[in-house]
Amino acid sequence: HSLKALNTFGLDAKARYFCTLHTLGGVRTLMTWQQEHPDLPVLFLGGGSNMLFVNDYPGLVVQVRLETLEVLGQDANYDYLRAGAGNNWHDFVRWTLEQGFAGLENLSLIPGTVGAAPMQNIGAYGVELKDHVYEVQALDWRTAELRDFSVDECCFAYRDSYFKSVEPDRWLIVAVVFRLPRQPQWKIDYAGVKEPLAGKDLNARMISDAIINIRQSKLPNPAEIGNAGSFFKNPLISLAQWATLQAQFPDMPGWMQADQVKTSAGWLIDQCGWKGKRDGDAGTYANHALVLVNHGNATGAELWQFAQSIIASVQDKFGITLEPEPRVL
Ligand code: EPU
Repeated sequence: HSLKALNTFGLDAKARYFCTLHTLGGVRTLMTWQQEHPDLPVLFLGGGSNMLFVNDYPGLVVQVRLETLEVLGQDANYDYLRAGAGNNWHDFVRWTLEQGFAGLENLSLIPGTVGAAPMQNIGAYGVELKDHVYEVQALDWRTAELRDFSVDECCFAYRDSYFKSVEPDRWLIVAVVFRLPRQPQWKIDYAGVKEPLAGKDLNARMISDAIINIRQSKLPNPAEIGNAGSFFKNPLISLAQWATLQAQFPDMPGWMQADQVKTSAGWLIDQCGWKGKRDGDAGTYANHALVLVNHGNATGAELWQFAQSIIASVQDKFGITLEPEPRVL
């Protein structure tokens, strides 16, 4: 089964087996299948916006289409909503805004699904998913039991979670319960977001619109140019390495974390001359060096090769090892 329409790089990788999951009841059938094929891996796919298929997939790819949407209620401070994992993320965000809820506006236009969002704790423009999650409902692929993970149990960190790095491939996220503030605090400090909103009487939809504008100006639309958003994480370096590098490269951006400094992968890659470069159909986006793009017919292997060249030159110039953000399969 071709995965071309199911990954935002538009790569024509093949899955040996493929199915869609529309209801939780379907999980039983899937588990029986897994018992009959114990040696084959299973991959749950959301919007395919965070995957680089370097090879064909040797097992079963399950497209998760659990698309329920419920308003659960409210208390003095919050509204609670539950969204099935298969809902498109951006459609869900806009739906919450149309219903008069606020909190998710800064996360507008991020590709992918609700179920994929907690995997890597999606974040943009000063907000991370974890800021508004109440719990994540996941199914244990070993036992078919459902479990509710509190925010703490999800171990959310920068582009990371329990589901991504502690027990990958064990949990199928089936729904996310959101806790949205009834007295929202707007986050509009980010350069490019603040300016068009200055002096206005703000609401969540205006902020969402501003975020959509800035994203459209910087990031390629996967429907037009294949990509998976940022291809590398912004690296964390030690204070000592930061001091040395800053002496050498005074313009290098850096944000203090606890006892480390987060620097900008986009800047590092740009400084190495990769912005807008291409080799065949593999390249980086002209407006943002951090985004790897498929100009048409690149293969996953060619994109991965291109990424390796970027990693090597950043290593060479700055002594920093970039880590890919999407899952490389
Ligand atoms: N920069 C360059 N050259 C470039 C791109 C960026 O020099 O080609 C430098 C500039 O100094 C710029 C700085 O990098 O000011 C930051 O760029 P940007 O505001 O675009 O943010 P980012 O750190 O590159 C992160 C997230 C994005 C998110 C934006 C906005 C990661 C890996 N990426 O990018 O998330 O939208 O911040 O909050 O953390 C994604 O994860 O797929 C993603 C798009």
